Amino acid sequence: MSPGSHPHLLSPIRVGTLELRNRIVLPAMDQNNCDDGLITDETVAHYEERAQGGAGLLILETSAVAYPHGATSRHQPSLSHDGVIDGLARLADAVHAHGSRMVVQVNHHGRISGVDTAEGRPSLVPSLPVPEVDVSEIMVDTTMDELMGMATLTGGKMPTYEEASAETLDEVVERFADASERVQAAGLDGVEVHAGHGYLLATFLSPAWNRRTDRYGGSTDGRARLLVEVVTAIRNRCGPDFTILVRLDGRDYAMANGITPELAARYAAMAVGAGADAIHVTAYSTTAGGPGFTDGPLPWLECQYEDLARSVKAAVDVPVIAVGRIGPDDGERILVGGGADLIAMGRQLLADPDLPLRLAAGRPDLVRPCINCFVCVAQNFWSARPVCAVNARLGHYDDPPAGPADFRRHIVVVGGGPGGMEAARVAAERGHRVTLLEKSRRLGGTALFSALTTPMNGELVRYLTASLAELDVDIRTGTTATPEMVAGLHPNAVVVATGAVRSRPDVPGAQLPHVLSGDDLRGLLTGEGDLGGRRPRTAVRLVLLCGRLLGLTADMSRVRSLSRRWMPVGRRIVVVGGGLVGVELAEFLAERRRAVTVLEEGDDLATEMAHPRRWRTLHEARRRGVVFRTGAMITAITASHVEFRLGNETHTVAADTVVLAGGIQPDASLGELIRETTGLDVDVIGDAATTGYIQGAIRSGNQVANAL
Ligand SMILES: Cc1cc2nc3c(=O)[nH]c(=O)nc-3n(C[C@H](O)[C@H](O)[C@H](O)COP(=O)(O)O)c2cc1C
Ligand code: SF4
Repeated sequence: MSPGSHPHLLSPIRVGTLELRNRIVLPAMDQNNCDDGLITDETVAHYEERAQGGAGLLILETSAVAYPHGATSRHQPSLSHDGVIDGLARLADAVHAHGSRMVVQVNHHGRISGVDTAEGRPSLVPSLPVPEVDVSEIMVDTTMDELMGMATLTGGKMPTYEEASAETLDEVVERFADASERVQAAGLDGVEVHAGHGYLLATFLSPAWNRRTDRYGGSTDGRARLLVEVVTAIRNRCGPDFTILVRLDGRDYAMANGITPELAARYAAMAVGAGADAIHVTAYSTTAGGPGFTDGPLPWLECQYEDLARSVKAAVDVPVIAVGRIGPDDGERILVGGGADLIAMGRQLLADPDLPLRLAAGRPDLVRPCINCFVCVAQNFWSARPVCAVNARLGHYDDPPAGPADFRRHIVVVGGGPGGMEAARVAAERGHRVTLLEKSRRLGGTALFSALTTPMNGELVRYLTASLAELDVDIRTGTTATPEMVAGLHPNAVVVATGAVRSRPDVPGAQLPHVLSGDDLRGLLTGEGDLGGRRPRTAVRLVLLCGRLLGLTADMSRVRSLSRRWMPVGRRIVVVGGGLVGVELAEFLAERRRAVTVLEEGDDLATEMAHPRRWRTLHEARRRGVVFRTGAMITAITASHVEFRLGNETHTVAADTVVLAGGIQPDASLGELIRETTGLDVDVIGDAATTGYIQGAIRSGNQVANAL
């Protein structure tokens, strides 16, 4: 692989006796494609795509060494009998054919063994009683459907626990060694012992969970004993050439008396002493509630665990793998600075399996970015296959890839938001001639505007724009499509992706000048969009004009940073509508020192967000003082207040500015008009067809273009 734009990431490395072509690692991520523990075609397709995309090392998702005992799901790989070897061998062949290496994450899921709970077995823990884990905050912010989904994993049963005896632990150690021997027999390159994320080995390492007084507890050495015995047993069974990684939490974010960076460094050194060839530094938050899950194991912040990897690296003399929202540029920086030896990119390689190849080609601009939306991992809470908001293929391996089109057609796409751009991209990639018409001066639609509150959405728009340029799509911005104009382009097919419409609530005062729709706000901040004949105050207009003339409002990241100093809104803001848009806007405004109240008619907030992201966003918004009122029916807006009903009671809240963030409706009218008046073949996709936000828009754009 050529050094491309990221020479350190793309340089080879040796881990144990394993030669890797580069330092990019796919960390273990459950895909739930297995059938009662057996590898399926979908499992093979998922990993083969990532091998083909150029990653140096792939780590197979968490696999149960004593399956179904100590397993989280019947859809995860089993390693507990020889019948699994053929499937693993198929995986090994597929991955090796593309030059990647692969190890299997070997695990006993301990207290999180959903299959044990479902089947009436107690889960293994080091000590009883188990510490209390507070889930009150997530219960509030989780919908009934999601709670039901989570409950199906265990058949609605609550876990019971068993303190592991020394004899049981001897058996567990044997299961790890047996499982690793099967991995070796299948021709795979090694194992990663999972000693993090609250599973069995992690609970033994944690002083909060392990209060034993026998040889498996009582001291740092005692708590590390089970891990050391597991690594030693695998090394003895599989020999010196078999690669053994150990995955450790560098920190438990939630538990007083949990894993600290200092403890993690000591455990890492002990694992190396027992025979580990590399240490992979992750993190965890035992209290999954509120922000917990988005601290660990899935970080919210970029490079959140960088320092944890650095501190382990100082304690060991084997390669260290860093993980945790590390993109290519940060990965390169960390390697150059000696903070780690390899970089694992989890969600980023779900979003774009071809990342290594794109870096090798010197085209990091064509890497499809992960937008940190947590849609993928949300599926794991009910043991379903992860899907991805930006990569329509993830989780749909049973749809064969469409490949090049049989003959070249001319496709006109109307609407340059994510759905339209994805349709244009895929159609052009398949060989069609594509014309893209967009009413506004810039591509991106509402996703561009949402970059104000959610910057990664802007990255997605940037990537799609770069891809369209690469594919020579004829992009016509500032062009309002009409049936006549579309017909005049003589297309073979038309895709309409003009998005949703937003209506104002039918209450007195909804038309007052201080009542802004999302579109108004966008118009005010960016100088684009339709202000619906509403005129901002003169001073506001002047500032906006200057901003536009200086080009400041053309770039959302600059608008975002300028908005910290000035925004054309008052101090007290009421946001009407507590969906995704309203909640993100509320947090954004509160961060800019506005007093924000969100009024939501329904019982739940931000239901369109994947629940882990919702937990985090609502937590952050509340922390910044946002007040949420659910079940609130707006009855009137005055110059100084919003009046609303909660049950039979009438309430008011003071407001200098009111932002309308609800009333979103699909709008297929342009598509229907084009179809009726021109007789052309028209597909309506994205929010114009059904509101599905970025995830729905990308998937529908991709599907339609694959069928053209
Ligand atoms: C869908 C999904 C499934 C995951 N499953 C596992 C797993 O099986 N084992 C594990 O150790 N970590 C698992 N993780 C955590 C990742 O390995 C990784 O540590 C985490 O996503 C942070 O890296 P990232 O920010 O690059 O995604 C999973 C993450 C995702 C998104
Ligand atoms: S679903 Fe969202 S978080 Fe997950 S990989 Fe895709 S873009 Fe990233």
